Amino acid sequence: LHSHPLKGKRVLISAGPTRESMDPVRFISNHSTGKMGYAIARAAFLLGADVTLAHGPVSLKDIPGVTMKPFISANDLFELMKEESKKADYIIMSAAVGDYRPQDVAKEKIKKNDDCLHVEFIKNPDILSYLCANRTNQQIICGFAMETNDLIAHAKEKLLRKNADMIVANSLRTKGAGFATDTNVATLITKENTEDLPMMSKEDLGLVILDRLMSLKED
Ligand code: C5P
Repeated sequence: LHSHPLKGKRVLISAGPTRESMDPVRFISNHSTGKMGYAIARAAFLLGADVTLAHGPVSLKDIPGVTMKPFISANDLFELMKEESKKADYIIMSAAVGDYRPQDVAKEKIKKNDDCLHVEFIKNPDILSYLCANRTNQQIICGFAMETNDLIAHAKEKLLRKNADMIVANSLRTKGAGFATDTNVATLITKENTEDLPMMSKEDLGLVILDRLMSLKED
């Protein structure tokens, strides 16, 4: 291992869930813990990079030496990524961004008067697609795909549709993979290659992801 292969490089990572408010006391979110994104940030720091970690509401400790940027909603993250991506060499979107948000946020707490509650949702911006469509020269951009079925087909479709350089595909159904675990089982998908990885710690997977992204930049 070259001691600091990412020295002088800026790596921007997003991690954790988004929260979308419904009223002053409630939100809709997902089970993301941020572990995968934090592990990538730690690995990037060890490899010598200048690391910024955009993180949703998670219970993990800040990483010393890494610039921490908090977000709550998908739109917060969108604004953050638009700004921070300008100077990034590598961008890794591991945040579990909510696809939809409630169209209207009630000013007062919603009362439980009716048996059914109808909430209209509207689509959030696809941040990964935006970053890929607006990338500066040489930027390498990686996304994630977490699926419950047809993992590889969906991940390949995502790579092409979003125009990312790599998609890290992981299944919620595989033992040793998923949200709250310390391990993951991933397939790394690029336009040229599909690489199945064995179960490994999220830390090690972070190193492998960065290694493969670095070799994409060399091509
Ligand atoms: O389309 P899907 O949500 O499955 O794609 C997952 C990838 O896209 C992840 O890298 C996630 O961070 C990113 N994403 C995004 N903006 C969204 C939804 C997902 O950047 N609104």
